[in-house]
Amino acid sequence: MPEFANPFAGNSLGRKISDDELVRAIRYVIAAEFEAIQLYMQLVEATDNQLAKEVLKDVADEERVHAGEFYRLLMELDPDEQQFYNQGRQEVEEEIVNLQETLIDRP
Ligand SMILES: [Fe+2]
Repeated sequence: MPEFANPFAGNSLGRKISDDELVRAIRYVIAAEFEAIQLYMQLVEATDNQLAKEVLKDVADEERVHAGEFYRLLMELDPDEQQFYNQGRQEVEEEIVNLQETLIDRP
């Protein structure tokens, strides 16, 4: 949960962080963006208040934009990481093709 009482909570090390620590921190904030999206969409599903639904959906979309920004920043900070995402993407592409071929082959 956020530490509202301590405005310096994010910089409590007493030093600047290393490049590797920055990469890990960016991965963490990407996860935090996804967590926020999950929370907002759960609230959308949990309430009948139309105004709250609209605001929550709008903010959830903004968090998706933030996730994209941080993802792009991560690729800039650690270009080698992209190959792992590309590998995962390719593996799913192969599964899609396999599934389509299975469906086509059905009588
Ligand atoms: Fe955000």
